[in-house]
Amino acid sequence: MMARRERLLGPNNPTFYDDPVHFVRGEGVWLFDADGRRYLDAYNNVPHVGHCHPHVVEAISRQAGLLNTHSRYLHDNVLDYAERLTATFHRSLSTVLLTCTGSEANDVALRMARAITGKHGVIVTDFTYHGNTSAVMELATLIPREDGFSTHLRTIPAPDSYHLEPGEKDETDMAARVLAHLDAAISSLEEAGHGVSAIMLCPIFANEGFPDLPPGFLDRVAKRVRKAGGVVIADEVQPGFGRTGAAMWGHQYSGFTPDIVTMGKPMGNGHPIGGVVTTHDIMHAFRTKNVYFNTFGSNPVSCAAGLAVLDVIENENLIANAAEVGAYAKERLEKMAEKFGFLGDVRGAGLFFGAEIVHPGEQITADKKLAKKAVNLMRENGVIMGLLGRKENLFKIRPPMPFSKTNADHLFEVMDHVLSRL
Ligand SMILES: Cc1ncc(COP(=O)(O)O)c(C=O)c1O
Repeated sequence: MMARRERLLGPNNPTFYDDPVHFVRGEGVWLFDADGRRYLDAYNNVPHVGHCHPHVVEAISRQAGLLNTHSRYLHDNVLDYAERLTATFHRSLSTVLLTCTGSEANDVALRMARAITGKHGVIVTDFTYHGNTSAVMELATLIPREDGFSTHLRTIPAPDSYHLEPGEKDETDMAARVLAHLDAAISSLEEAGHGVSAIMLCPIFANEGFPDLPPGFLDRVAKRVRKAGGVVIADEVQPGFGRTGAAMWGHQYSGFTPDIVTMGKPMGNGHPIGGVVTTHDIMHAFRTKNVYFNTFGSNPVSCAAGLAVLDVIENENLIANAAEVGAYAKERLEKMAEKFGFLGDVRGAGLFFGAEIVHPGEQITADKKLAKKAVNLMRENGVIMGLLGRKENLFKIRPPMPFSKTNADHLFEVMDHVLSRL
């Protein structure tokens, strides 16, 4: 199968794990491979309300059996969805543009920022990813590139509450350093004549390794960017739709209000839908200066999927579940870190958490090799999870939202067995 894949799909198409998995079915938090073996899914956030949730499947198939067209005809679903979605935001964020992917949403957000500010400069962290269109790939600082970055891009250090710089004693010192870099990036863009159109950031810095942040940090970031005439784009592709357990959106959890919010992955529970939510003024500036049409964006079937996901989040109390099970799981992981010396910092929020794998004794030296061995062994033992962070040594545990305490117990029983073997 791997050879066929390479022949048909070309090289450099990575799979997870030394021994790739071939799934054929999913149900709730469970995945089943071609041999009928069951795996606990502690990784996938796209099947947000659970693999193949019957309410979402039914909504998609009902609408697909009735009508699917595009946004140039009138349809209630897109308006109903826009209303339901914007009701979850601060009242200033009242308009929606739908896309098919998170990349497209971020691409449009950059164009909106340019339309409202008339400027071009963009700021991101130095270890990030916001998607794969030409414009957003230019912001993908976590992917090494030989040709350097675009002249209108400036980076600030990705916040990291664990690997502090010499002289820093906690995340407050770390945050002060990042803010100083932000001031320098703003000055540099102004001096170069680009000006600041936007900062784009994930409100929990998920790809950067979900660091602990001091309260009010992102509000201070937003104030500086706005003072320079720019806007703040919150990429909610990962923390959105209640993942942190504290609120519907990562920026609400982190305590600031962005000007533009982008979303994707969990939005349609696997059905490809993404979107941008912004203010009336920004949407107007963008729509009057640009023509934007997306054949599949905002079609009635995608909107039916989006509406059904919102129903399930509400009806099954999934945000409260993320808070309760996430807190329970983090506590268990902390206990495990007391037992195994090579488990370092444990952090995260709601159902997005993990632990650093480090060399025992020197708590801040990453052990990527051991981390990789651990996730491969977890897979061998029927639990799906991943790694992330600059040093690829951070357990990434981010299951579908109906993950229960019983599922967490299962995860940690297997983890205890695997870590004992290591
Ligand atoms: C933070 C973030 N933004 C945007 C994207 C792009 O989303 P998509 O793959 O749906 O285009 C990703 C994908 O991994 C992501 O992690």
